[in-house]
Amino acid sequence: MSLNTVRHNYKITKVNREELNGHRSFLLWFTGLSGSGKSTLANLVEVELHRKGISTFCLDGDNIRQGINKDLSFAPEDRTENIRRIAEIGHLLVNAGVVTLAAFVSPYIKDRENIKDIVGAENFIEIYINTSLEECERRDTKGLYKKARAGEIKNMTGISAPYEAPVNPDLEIITDNQSIEDSVKTILDFIIQKLK
Ligand code: ADX
Repeated sequence: MSLNTVRHNYKITKVNREELNGHRSFLLWFTGLSGSGKSTLANLVEVELHRKGISTFCLDGDNIRQGINKDLSFAPEDRTENIRRIAEIGHLLVNAGVVTLAAFVSPYIKDRENIKDIVGAENFIEIYINTSLEECERRDTKGLYKKARAGEIKNMTGISAPYEAPVNPDLEIITDNQSIEDSVKTILDFIIQKLK
């Protein structure tokens, strides 16, 4: 429904903003089950980047779904729309020169492929936070798995809705095998070169 609109080209571009900031900008996309540790890791990675003087912003499912996406459910088509909107927001932020960290379950491969199309493959880094369902369920920090098992929540990822794991992520963090500190370091080591 983008009838009769014409894209305006601005004189100041992403590259100009990156030069001003002194670093490149891109979208770090954390995908994984609810409770896998996506937001925790995104948060800690952001702290370290911020300390280094990098311009950052975090987006995550629980926050975005209370605001701009509060009209969306967890039905497959609404999850697709959720991810599409976040990808568009991420695109704006990346064009603004900001290293953007997005933590969303984003369970469908096709939705994650669509993010790449929206922001550009060169700006997209997919990080798979691989925590087993057993571990997420054991933690159950928000009590959602218990409710899902009791049938009180429909479409719960991992229980009554699918999670399509990335086939070839840029980075995979198997959290059962390493501490939070080590995971943060692995992610930072991976992206630090890309900031230059
Ligand atoms: S996504 O699938 O559309 O990417 P998103 O990351 O925005 O999901 O939101 C996931 C968060 O919403 C979870 O961390 C959890 O706290 C909460 N949530 C509530 N209901 C569900 C559900 N049915 N499936 C997954 N997460 C849910």
